[in-house]
Amino acid sequence: MKNHDSAFAASPEPLLDLAALRADTPGCEAVIHFNNAGCGLTARPVLQAMLDHLHLEAAIGGYEASAARAGEIADFHAAIAELVNARPDNIAFAGSATHAYTKALSAIDFRPGEVVLTTRNDFISNQIAFLALRRRHGVRIVHAPDHPDGSGVDVDAMAVLMRAHRPRLVAVTHVPTNSGLVQPVAEIGRHCRELDLLYLVDACQSVGQYPIDVEEIGCDLLTATCRKFLRGPRGSGFLYVSDRALAAGLEPLYIDMHGARWVAPGHYRAVGTAARFEEWEFPYATVLGCAAAVRYALRVGLEPVAQRTPALAARLRRQLADVPGVRTLDRGPAPAALVTFAIERWEAEPFKAAMDARGINSALSYREFAQFDFADKEVEWCLRLSPHYYNTEDEVDAVAGAVAELVGSAW
Ligand SMILES: Cc1ncc(COP(=O)(O)O)c(C=O)c1O
Repeated sequence: MKNHDSAFAASPEPLLDLAALRADTPGCEAVIHFNNAGCGLTARPVLQAMLDHLHLEAAIGGYEASAARAGEIADFHAAIAELVNARPDNIAFAGSATHAYTKALSAIDFRPGEVVLTTRNDFISNQIAFLALRRRHGVRIVHAPDHPDGSGVDVDAMAVLMRAHRPRLVAVTHVPTNSGLVQPVAEIGRHCRELDLLYLVDACQSVGQYPIDVEEIGCDLLTATCRKFLRGPRGSGFLYVSDRALAAGLEPLYIDMHGARWVAPGHYRAVGTAARFEEWEFPYATVLGCAAAVRYALRVGLEPVAQRTPALAARLRRQLADVPGVRTLDRGPAPAALVTFAIERWEAEPFKAAMDARGINSALSYREFAQFDFADKEVEWCLRLSPHYYNTEDEVDAVAGAVAELVGSAW
């Protein structure tokens, strides 16, 4: 990492030196990347960490390369732990946020009639997983209502549901994929701790965008990807498992020789750490890329990132709100850097293609991604623009201008 740390060479202070950070990000030269909620642009040290390892594997052999880099590989767990205020033993690598999430769900031996309490804005794949659990195990899915003021889930109503149902699992997505809503995960966590309820948080869109503290949130399990606002490689994510959950013996349904010892022909014993949620085989170049990405994010500083990134999004949202034919959709008092809006007189794919043609990366969300939220908002699709700290105010203005021009051209 140190060898490639060009953005920080001049100053050890965690300042946002935009010019240096952009120089560290090759993609900034090619595109206006407003799809960080899909996948952030990789910084040079991250790319280099991965390339170095692939070269080493080719040169000396895959097993030998991972043995040679054991220290740096172990830093994956240490870096993520530092990022979320946990210990390395609480962290498991996963191939994606969904991989981490389903592994976590598999650790709960749901009985028929037990309740999963969640929100109307939880991520599509999580909702599908709950439905699959209902089909297979007869669990009941309860969706807490949203607060009438549009600030997200109604925490008081959710607490009433917790008391009424004593759910086997409380599951909340911190920032959904389909809007900039930020759910009050720490407030919900306080109720879970008071009632001793198992609490799973999907922090896929918030990790790397805000400081995340698992102690403050009070969760037992937390999942995320490394590729979005953390700017790590694709095909990576992690699961945080609290000491409480580890001590309670939570282990995934399918546990392998990395997660358990085969201590006698008829017995296995899960390891004591969150490694019980991992598998023996790792994509080591990716793991090293993730470690480099997390170290990079920590060097940039999550506090300045959390100030700048949603502020860039707010600037964009303000400009889009003034464009006739555009309806901005994000709710809540302080939305995250996911700017979503509906567009009149355009179909989804042609609009995105027109943005692509202008060198602006964006993403589409469809009704299927957010059955409750998009029904409430009466939209079938929307465009999502998600800037990150390395984007500039000029880019924001250019993107808003491009949207206005395209929308205007259809009138
Ligand atoms: C809120 C949220 N949770 C989970 C996921 C799934 O992440 P992955 O694709 O790494 O499984 C996403 C992906 O967009 C997401 O936005």
